[in-house]
Amino acid sequence: MEKFAKLIIDGQEIALPVIEGSEGEMAIDIRELRQQSGYITFDPGYGNTGSCRSSITYMDGEKGILRYRGIPIEQLAESSTFVETAFLLITGKLPTREELTRTSVSLNDFSPIHENMKAFYQNYPPKAHPMGILSAMINAMRSFYPELIDREEELNKTYLRIISKIRTMAAMAYKISIGQKVIYPRPDLCYCSNFLNMMFDSVVVRYHIDDELVRALNVFWILHADHEQNCSTTAVRVVGSGKVNIYSTISAGISALWGPLHGGANQAVIHMLERIERDGMSVEKCIARAKDKDDDFRLMGFGHRVYKTYDPRAKIMKDMCDIVLKKVKVKDPLLDIARRLEEAALTDPYFREKHLYPNVDFYSGIVLRAMGIPTKMFTVMFAIGRLPGWIAQWKEYWNDPEMKISRPRQVYTGNTLNEYVPIDQRKEEVSIC
Ligand code: CMC
Repeated sequence: MEKFAKLIIDGQEIALPVIEGSEGEMAIDIRELRQQSGYITFDPGYGNTGSCRSSITYMDGEKGILRYRGIPIEQLAESSTFVETAFLLITGKLPTREELTRTSVSLNDFSPIHENMKAFYQNYPPKAHPMGILSAMINAMRSFYPELIDREEELNKTYLRIISKIRTMAAMAYKISIGQKVIYPRPDLCYCSNFLNMMFDSVVVRYHIDDELVRALNVFWILHADHEQNCSTTAVRVVGSGKVNIYSTISAGISALWGPLHGGANQAVIHMLERIERDGMSVEKCIARAKDKDDDFRLMGFGHRVYKTYDPRAKIMKDMCDIVLKKVKVKDPLLDIARRLEEAALTDPYFREKHLYPNVDFYSGIVLRAMGIPTKMFTVMFAIGRLPGWIAQWKEYWNDPEMKISRPRQVYTGNTLNEYVPIDQRKEEVSIC
């Protein structure tokens, strides 16, 4: 039976349909609200706004649940690979062996990038942030690979092309930034091994591909592969809603991810831990500063809009720290600081009351550091991982008959009708500069 929510405004009763999701999530459909009442809803940051129906990722922030296409993140991290998870997210099902092989072959076929694109990298200022470069390069792909045909088969090729080339572009950006010869992708290597090889092999020292580190990278990327309607995915959906091409849409997602409150948090966490170590700041002092409203210091890698308990990705990432550090035989002092910070925050009333727990970024930087990934590449690593999610969400949006161009409303709070005053009649105090 169809359910309705009743809203009474100015004595007028309005019945609004209720939508129920497959996991019992309830929503009030307000699409007709303005037409019926003249009112709009107000929700800065969209914390209570459902922007779409989606069958890709399910999260329960209270219980700490994350599932891709119904499969728990813990199972995927335990048994899947990044390529298989990408297939799952984009197509909606796990691949057969043959489909997986075909996907891997295509990813290898698409991995080289147009030689002319190298010129872009070479002309960037040496200190340019790789996220800015990556966003520009993905946007540039529209010009280098203009053959976007609407047929599904062609679109599938485009998805694979982006997933494959983003990894080559990221490694190439790194090599050029450190003045080393670019290492090209190898057709005999799988997705993650190829990336590590392109990053760390050189003409001087051959890189030894270690299976455990390859596994760790698979897990890292699986954990980042999608997270429903987060900031960058919303950017992808909003930008894509104007029917812009997929390359420009993904480029917008990369830009949105860059910020320290979102994907840039993994880099910000390491900077924070390094600062604590360098300045000899005590854990107590950090916690006190994070709680002080007059201090702009925040505990980076803590808190989440949706999770009000431990982020399930952070649990897996924390365990990975031990595995990877043991493998590379490194003792990272930042891990010790991170652990002590976590312990102090989890028992502190401020963090408990506000339900602030470690998120995926709290331990991910330590894992990446141990693998040899430079700090300024951390958010690029997140972007490579999030790409299948952006593609899946873009595809879902593109095929959704309910979707319209994104165009929220506002509550205007500026001047009411005002008059233009000629410049020689303006009083000094009305200056706007
Ligand atoms: N340290 C100290 N206080 C915090 C923190 C933190 N990390 N996070 C939230 N708070 C406080 C905040 O000051 C606010 O207090 P009050 O209610 O007194 O004003 C309260 O908790 C609610 O925070 P909010 O900023 O209103 O919550 P939000 O849902 O808008 O923001 C967040 C979520 C992730 C942006 C925020 O928790 C934050 O800035 N965390 C640090 C950055 C970070 O780790 N980002 C990565 C998120 S996970 C990766 C991803 O998916 O993007």
